[in-house]
Amino acid sequence: MPLPPPTYAAALREAIADVTRGVGPAALASATEALIGRYRSVAPAGPPILDSADKVAAYAAYRMPATHAALTRVLQTVAATGVEPVSHLDLGGGTGAAAWASAEVFPSLRQITVLDQAVEALRLGERLVGSAPVEVLREASFTRAAAGAWPHEAADLVTVSYVLSELDVPQQERLVADALALGTVVVIVEPGTPDGYERILHARTAIRDLGWQLLGPCPHAGACPLAPGDWCHFSARVNRSAEHRRIKGGELSYEDEKFSWVAGARPGTVGTRRTSGRILRHPLKRKGFVEFQVCRPDGTAGREVISKKQGQRYRDARDAEWGDVLP
Ligand SMILES: C[S@@+](CC[C@H](N)C(=O)[O-])C[C@H]1O[C@@H](n2cnc3c(N)ncnc32)[C@H](O)[C@@H]1O
Repeated sequence: MPLPPPTYAAALREAIADVTRGVGPAALASATEALIGRYRSVAPAGPPILDSADKVAAYAAYRMPATHAALTRVLQTVAATGVEPVSHLDLGGGTGAAAWASAEVFPSLRQITVLDQAVEALRLGERLVGSAPVEVLREASFTRAAAGAWPHEAADLVTVSYVLSELDVPQQERLVADALALGTVVVIVEPGTPDGYERILHARTAIRDLGWQLLGPCPHAGACPLAPGDWCHFSARVNRSAEHRRIKGGELSYEDEKFSWVAGARPGTVGTRRTSGRILRHPLKRKGFVEFQVCRPDGTAGREVISKKQGQRYRDARDAEWGDVLP
């Protein structure tokens, strides 16, 4: 079944436009250039990247709508497993993209905490939620903390999104271990690039080594069956505001954010589920049949075809999208 369209994206776009209005276009453009250049390199950050108010405003305007779209898609998939977190801790949460996503996806949430080393990012995140559509988001706490020294505050849901690439490998391992020590359900999201997928594979190994249950995207806990050179990633559509189009210099009214992710839960958190395959590419919708590339519950990956003869399953297949469970 297709997931319901999220609705907080528009509210977030408006909040971003409000808080970035005070930054001059030239300053925003040059800070955006600096960020794009920096994020193209995957070298560990060293000094913080979001080290000025202009760079934080540029991050919110040019990256946050996309990380928010990816997180919303991922958390919707996690929510479909039946988890109902009451508390959410976002490590390296920056301007709060994951908080906006979780507040929409999980009506069960009563407390959201965003931790980050970048004070300017936290300040802007706090201003953004000032106009948020729900109380739990308006009251989210934005607190300074650095990786390796997080407060010992456990939470039902812990997210780590687009952070690992800014750390060296020992710091990445430590961050994943900290997330697993603090969370009941842990969700890790990275850019949908070959190196982002590699970092996700390492996090997946850490989740499996603890004996946790994988909530997604993998429908099995075996080795990843993708062929060398291929990488597991998904896509989320982001509507661009006029401001966003201007900053990014594009004409299209949308962009597709590619992401890789993994989520795990402590044993016993969710019941055993009968899972189907995960759709790994845009389905090819032909006359009378739909062709899919899927990762299967038996630990293999490959082609599946659902034809018109299969009645309701075919009708569901026509609606299925990349990232969904195979009908
Ligand atoms: C690319 S941004 C992602 C922000 C947010 N999670 C999102 O998805 O939009 C990376 C964030 O990680 C934070 N970060 C990087 N290294 C950190 C560290 N050592 N301790 C705490 N935060 C860190 C940065 O300050 C920044 O806010």
